[in-house]
Amino acid sequence: MLLVTGACGYIGSHFMHYYLAQAANRDQSLVAIDNLLLGHKESISPDIESRVHFYQCDIGDKKALGEILQKHSVHAVVHFAASAYVGESQEKPFKYFDNNVFQSLSFFESLLMAGVRKVVFSSTCATYGMPVRTPMDENHPQSPINTYGVTKLMVEEALRALALASGLSYVLLRYFNAAGASPSGLVGESHAHETHLIPLALAAALGGGEPLKIFGNDYDTPDGTCIRDYVHVDDLAAAHLLALKLFERDKMPEKATLADSNGLGAAFNLGTARGVSVMEVLKTIESVAGLAVPFSFASRRAGDPSRLFADAGRANNVLGWQPRYGLSDIVETALHWEKHRRY
Ligand SMILES: NC(=O)c1ccc[n+]([C@@H]2O[C@H](COP(=O)([O-])OP(=O)(O)OC[C@H]3O[C@@H](n4cnc5c(N)ncnc54)[C@H](O)[C@@H]3O)[C@@H](O)[C@H]2O)c1
Repeated sequence: MLLVTGACGYIGSHFMHYYLAQAANRDQSLVAIDNLLLGHKESISPDIESRVHFYQCDIGDKKALGEILQKHSVHAVVHFAASAYVGESQEKPFKYFDNNVFQSLSFFESLLMAGVRKVVFSSTCATYGMPVRTPMDENHPQSPINTYGVTKLMVEEALRALALASGLSYVLLRYFNAAGASPSGLVGESHAHETHLIPLALAAALGGGEPLKIFGNDYDTPDGTCIRDYVHVDDLAAAHLLALKLFERDKMPEKATLADSNGLGAAFNLGTARGVSVMEVLKTIESVAGLAVPFSFASRRAGDPSRLFADAGRANNVLGWQPRYGLSDIVETALHWEKHRRY
């Protein structure tokens, strides 16, 4: 059985639904863990409830994890649970070291003690830091510029060390900007303190939020606003399924392997390879939804690079992953969710 951490968060909940909806998984159930500090239990909707063994606990709770792993025969893990706000990570670095690093280490120890050795880890383009080249491939230097990125890189390194020491196999998925919502309308993005562009822009357009603040209009980009790579959350979910399939091979394929991991690990960027500026996002909202987004320009935020977009060629070549959704689909599904939120 698969174990999913952070299962009631934004990306975890989409993965959970996507996984259970696959024809090949019709008879499967999964173990879902979330402390619900930021997640929503409602994301386990009635249609999947009977196939989700949900536990509300911290991933670092050794006693709870021991019991869960004893009760269920877990063969692999998809590890989403983390604190994921860049700004907050600068204000409360120790919260991030604790939740993202210490709790993950404790979690990995619980897994190894129970003989679970396959982990797909949610990493991030924030581990790269300031781009020295774009698009960024997996060999781009990793030099994070905020505590969030540092903690994610520390967990990547811990997995690499555990692969060498304990025979653990891992796949690192470095997402760019997750966006959009499930076309089913059952799950979507719902953060109490939203920091992501598209939900903030939609809330502003629908009149339920403040006018959008755009940080910086003097970047070295065609319209002066920052360029990012928005990838649909269900495309991310699909990549996790493909990543799990890698474990069925004896060794990670040569071209997916990181130099020092003895063939036990692999890293993949997940992005569309298409950089889109903030103003382009606003224009897409206007054309898809017929809604103007009220906005004002504010000064740049420290540490925001002008352009960040992925070279996702390795995910394409090795996993066979290809994003299905474009920016219009992202806006359309996110808008549908904004209008019909279940939570
Ligand atoms: N959203 C993005 O654009 C993005 C980009 C790159 C990487 N990521 C990574 O993807 C993962 C999921 O991100 P998200 O946007 O869904 O975040 P989220 O905050 O919506 O979800 C995280 C979930 O994990 C739970 N959680 C956190 N710490 C926990 C702990 N110690 N024990 C148990 N549960 C815990 C929270 O309650 C929440 O439900 C994170 O690891 C994040 O770093 C996200």
